[in-house]
Formats: sequence, C-alpha cells, structure tokens
Amino acid sequence: MSAGRSPGTEIIMYGPRGMGKTVLLNWLENEVEKTAQDNRPLRTVQSTPTIFPSLKSLWNKLISDDWKKKLWPNQIELGAGGNKIVWNSKAPDDDDLVSALIEECKERPVVLLMDEAHTMDSRFCQGLLNISQQARQNAPFLLVLAGTPGLSHFLTTVNASFVERSKKMGIARLEAQATADAIVKPLDADGVHIAADALEHVVEDSQHYPYFIQLWGEALWDVAKEKDLQKLTSQEIAEVETKIENRRSNFYGERRNTLDELELLPAAVAIATVFQDTETTTRATLIDVIADNLPADSHATQSVNEHLQTLARHEFIWNPPDTDLYEAGIPSLMRYVLDRQREHVQKASPAAE
Ligand SMILES: Nc1ncnc2c1ncn2[C@@H]1O[C@H](COP(=O)(O)OP(=O)(O)O)[C@@H](O)[C@H]1O
Ligand SMILES: [Mg+2]
Repeated sequence: MSAGRSPGTEIIMYGPRGMGKTVLLNWLENEVEKTAQDNRPLRTVQSTPTIFPSLKSLWNKLISDDWKKKLWPNQIELGAGGNKIVWNSKAPDDDDLVSALIEECKERPVVLLMDEAHTMDSRFCQGLLNISQQARQNAPFLLVLAGTPGLSHFLTTVNASFVERSKKMGIARLEAQATADAIVKPLDADGVHIAADALEHVVEDSQHYPYFIQLWGEALWDVAKEKDLQKLTSQEIAEVETKIENRRSNFYGERRNTLDELELLPAAVAIATVFQDTETTTRATLIDVIADNLPADSHATQSVNEHLQTLARHEFIWNPPDTDLYEAGIPSLMRYVLDRQREHVQKASPAAE
C-alpha cells in the first residue's frame, strides 16, 4: 500500500467473540499508521455499522474534506461544527463518489477497517463491497472486515464472489507462550511479578482464550493493587478464582440460555458429547447429530442445515477458514453445557448415581 499499489484483495477476519478481533483491528490500525511515510501518507478509517449506519455517512468519513472541496466546490456546505460536510440537494451520485475516493486513494491510500461487520445491513454491505471492488481495482484501497463466524455466511448471501476472492483469516486462541506473555507483561510493567506455578495455573485455566485471559489479568492486577503486592502467588490465585468462576459462569449461562431458547440445547449436548473425544469433526457428523436431536416442530420450517448454521452463528461450533472440519466455538461452552446437563440428569433421578 505504501508503495502506491493495491494490496490485491479485501480481508475478512472472523472468529468467535472474545478472540481478540477488535484488539487486532486496533493493532492493525496502529501498524498501518506507523508505516505511513511523509511522502506517501496512509489513512485509516475505523468503523462499525452502528457508527456509520448509512453509506452516505460512511462517505462523509471516507472522502476527506479537502477532496470534497476540490471536486465539488459548489455542492457542499460546512456543517454546524465547521468540519462536518453535508451534501446539499445536488448530491453527487455513486459513480462520482467512487471516482473521488479513487483520486483520493491515489494521493493518500485508505485502509477501511469495519468491525462488527456481521451486523451490517445487507444493502449497506452490498454498497460497501461495490465501492471496495471499484476503488481497489483503480487505486491503493484496502477493506478489512472483522466479525463473528456468521460473517462469512452473511457475506456469501450478499456477494458470493467477494467472499471467494477475499483473504480469509480465522482468529483463533493464543499459544501458551502468548497467553503467559499477555498475563506477565502488563503486570511486569507495573513492577508486579507472578510465581511460576501460579502463572501455569492461570494460563491453563484461561484456556488460552483472550476474553478469559483478560478477566484473569484484570483480577490479578486488582488484587496486587489492593494489597500492595509485588509478587503474586497461588494464594492470590485462589482468592480471585471464585470471582473469575462467577463471571465465566454468567458468560456461559447466557450462551446456554440462548441455545435453550432456540430449542437447540439437545443438539448442543449431543454435539458436545461428540467433541469430548475429538478436537474437530466433519459437517456430515454434525448434520447427523442435529437430525437426531431436532427441535420439536422444526422439521416443518427449518432444515437441519439451517440449525447447523444457527449453532455456528451463536458460536457453539465453528468452521475456520481453509478447512471442511468444524471445531468447538467459544471455549469451552461445550464442557459447560455438558456439566449442566449432567447436573440436570442427576437432579431428575438422584437414585441413579
Ligand atoms: N492477544 C491478546 N492477549 C490478551 N488479551 C487479549 C488479546 N486479544 C484480546 N484480548 C482481550 O480479550 C477481550 C476480547 O477481545 P476483543 O478484541 O474485544 O474480542 P472480539 O472483538 O473478538 O470479540 C478483550 O478484553 C481484550 O482486551
Ligand atoms: Mg469485537
């Protein structure tokens, strides 16, 4: 990009919530801005569908005020704040806007980072993909979309060829070392150390899942500050563990309730049972399992395939890019669902134990 060439394809980043997609987008934004040189400036625009609900509002951000003034000196007026440009009645049409973006990108390449992209409205998304395609073919413009695993399917329904040609990046859990670093480094920066056995426990308990790592990091930092400690040991770990457990149970409980409301709990339990013995499984296996555990009246309205998609959309299972195999989604909602199921069965027939 900084050499004035288009990066080739759009990027789709997807993965279950809490995997660090937003953090990664922020990091990318920083990196891009770092590589911007004086003679070849780059511009990043970070957004979510909530911030820019319409293409018009997005355009106002994408095209800099300088270009608007240059291209349509008589068609714009300054907004109340002095810096917000509003189109007047002779608003430029889509082709004008794309040309403006292309001219602007030739001078100053643009990286558009759209977070929570799975919540885009279909028409908005269609427009955005069109803009991207046209801009990208003519100037250095890069569109990065980040969202939950449902994003890929959503984009396919809007524009299948866009998904085919994009670079797809699955965002998965961290490695053990990166998990340890994520705990140790921020504490270290504050002069707080953590004992090796305590760290090992935290790394394992977090399941290398960024959201849980962050829960641990925050709780440990709090206890260190509260007690003015320079060294954290198993004792402090034991103290904060209940708090972590509670927050995690709430998080899992909400997800389990959603599955229950969707009448997908029996299928979820059966799938979790399959995943007890394996890390990955085929689509065919999942289809069979769901077919055996369909919601009461679903056969009339929804196909087994749709139930599979619903389970994926709710991140119970997920299909990372470049493989046909499915993995567990949010770690480890499956274990939680199974544990709750066992409790349920035991309560129903205590004599069986
Ligand atoms: N690489 C990482 N190391 C440690 N914590 C992380 C990392 N990435 C994300 N987190 C933390 O995990 C949580 C979820 O990250 P976020 O980017 O919001 O996830 P997502 O956008 O995928 O839902 C945040 O609290 C964030 O601070
Ligand atoms: Mg996010």
